[in-house]
Amino acid sequence: MDTASYGSGNDEAAADPVRQQYEELAELAGSLAHEIKNPLSVIHMNIDLLDEDLQESESPIRRRALDKVDIVRQQCERMERMLADFLRFARLREMNLTPGSLNEQIERVLRACQAQADQAGVEIVRYLDPDLPRILMGSDALQAALMNLVKNAIEAMDDGGQLVVRTHATRGGVALDLIDTGEGMDDNTAMHMFEPFYSTKTAGTGLGLPTARKIIEAHGGRITVQTEVGRGTKFTLAFPALPRLA
Ligand SMILES: Nc1ncnc2c1ncn2[C@@H]1O[C@H](COP(=O)(O)OP(=O)(O)OP(=O)(O)O)[C@@H](O)[C@H]1O
Ligand SMILES: [Mg+2]
Repeated sequence: MDTASYGSGNDEAAADPVRQQYEELAELAGSLAHEIKNPLSVIHMNIDLLDEDLQESESPIRRRALDKVDIVRQQCERMERMLADFLRFARLREMNLTPGSLNEQIERVLRACQAQADQAGVEIVRYLDPDLPRILMGSDALQAALMNLVKNAIEAMDDGGQLVVRTHATRGGVALDLIDTGEGMDDNTAMHMFEPFYSTKTAGTGLGLPTARKIIEAHGGRITVQTEVGRGTKFTLAFPALPRLA
């Protein structure tokens, strides 16, 4: 694909005071998100009760209010989803890494997404290297990251398409390519896709990619992207490999 590349990686050179400030802020944001959860659930519960009262009313004016109640409830649910995603994102800390097979993890995710792919008319094509070296992984977190990427790919192919999933050994590591024939990204989206809460979807929280990146980097890995509007997108994940057993 003749496309622009967008990369990510750990900025090891980041000065410590900056990192400390960042971590304090992240901690604060996590607490804030947590504090918002309780009052929000009270609002949600009361809006449900109000809804029940209005449903029983005969008065047309009161029944009209139901539409507004519905909007408030939908927005409550949206905020609850965002908070849940955000807290998951903020809580990702050091992971317990054990040796495992990247092929196995991606295979599980593809199976879990098969129904969604079928519904969207997306064909999944696998080229999984059977001799792939093992890597150190936190399998739940890694699956969550892969799931976000596969879901994004399927969501980018509303009118059907093809998702090629390829694994192969690289020098000192392993790589996973996810290549979709979806809508691709314009420059603005490509610049901002890894920012928390950046989303072009009506129901998206915009935490899928930043979460995936955080998880991949916690594995010592890197995620890079090539994309072209109208043609598709290729995400490449690279991880350090474990030495092969003799
Ligand atoms: N494979 C892809 N093809 C085209 N655009 C993509 C792809 N993956 C990500 N994007 C773009 O990047 C944006 C951010 O993705 P991200 O996964 O972080 O959030 P989201 O999918 O919008 O919402 P969420 O994952 O929280 O439901 C998306 O809204 C979309 O515009
Ligand atoms: Mg997503």
